[in-house]
Amino acid sequence: VAHGAVDLSASDTKTVKRLPQAIIIGVKKGGTRALLEYLRLHPNISAPGPEVHFFDRYHDRGLNWYRGSKCVDEVSGRFLAVCGEQTAAKNRRPKSNAADDDGEQMTIEKTPCYFVKREVPARIHRMSSAIKLIVVVRDPSTRAISDYTQSFSKGRTKRSFDEMLFHDGKEKINERWSAVRIGMYAKHLSKWLPYFPLEQIHFVNGEELINNPVNEMQAVERFLGLPSFISDDHFNFNATKGFPCVKRRHTDTDFRCLGATKGRTHPSLSARTLQLLNQFYARHNKLFYEMTGRDFGWPE
Ligand code: A3P
Repeated sequence: VAHGAVDLSASDTKTVKRLPQAIIIGVKKGGTRALLEYLRLHPNISAPGPEVHFFDRYHDRGLNWYRGSKCVDEVSGRFLAVCGEQTAAKNRRPKSNAADDDGEQMTIEKTPCYFVKREVPARIHRMSSAIKLIVVVRDPSTRAISDYTQSFSKGRTKRSFDEMLFHDGKEKINERWSAVRIGMYAKHLSKWLPYFPLEQIHFVNGEELINNPVNEMQAVERFLGLPSFISDDHFNFNATKGFPCVKRRHTDTDFRCLGATKGRTHPSLSARTLQLLNQFYARHNKLFYEMTGRDFGWPE
């Protein structure tokens, strides 16, 4: 067993975890943390908090590692006990509430970079051709600004958004900048469609996930075949945070918001920069709407 890996060959069935039946594959800065935390409200969902990165970083560790990796710490790569099961147990209502207790336990994970990694679709397909895939998409211009804001706040760049976006101070957009590239959704989706039919990929509207989380989550529940559970009672729009915050258990009195790294203040861009960015994405967005049969209504 490799360093940090889990040997699941032992016969203790309590330690044997299931492979995921669904994966949140993207997109980075689309609202993937919010989606995962909202899904974890559901008693039938088991999910690790940290991103697993099996299909990009740790693929050579094999499926047994993946099975046990639901609680692998993002930084150390170390296995952290059975938090997926604890999450499920914690949320589960008493048995007497039988109507809410039906349906199978489902394991999910989220690793947002999967959507843009060329090698990942084939690898996931090899594990399970029936797996359900979820992508949170959001106006790619806003997504790019969010991505840049994260890089800047982590000290990965000291340059301005405009300096990163344009080549040589001219108005030509640098398509190779990852903050730009990740938002070309049609291009990335085309790498998945040879492996998975569109019906197996659910798109969450990232703007709606903020403005109307219950609707979006109910659509996710239907896609996953889960009994309906997530309701208005779980959410409260926090005006200070500017985002919905959640009540994890019906006995909790507080609504908890995501941490300070979610919902950062974006730099304000010039109208010209935003116009060029929107124009750049317009053809990519159109293609994406055609491919998915859905118009997300992002600015042109
Ligand atoms: P910003 O921090 O730029 O506003 P991800 O989790 O994929 O990294 O996405 C982060 C983005 O999720 C945030 O980007 C924010 O806009 C969005 N988001 C959606 N719901 C949120 C919530 N309840 N709390 C905070 N951020 C939320």
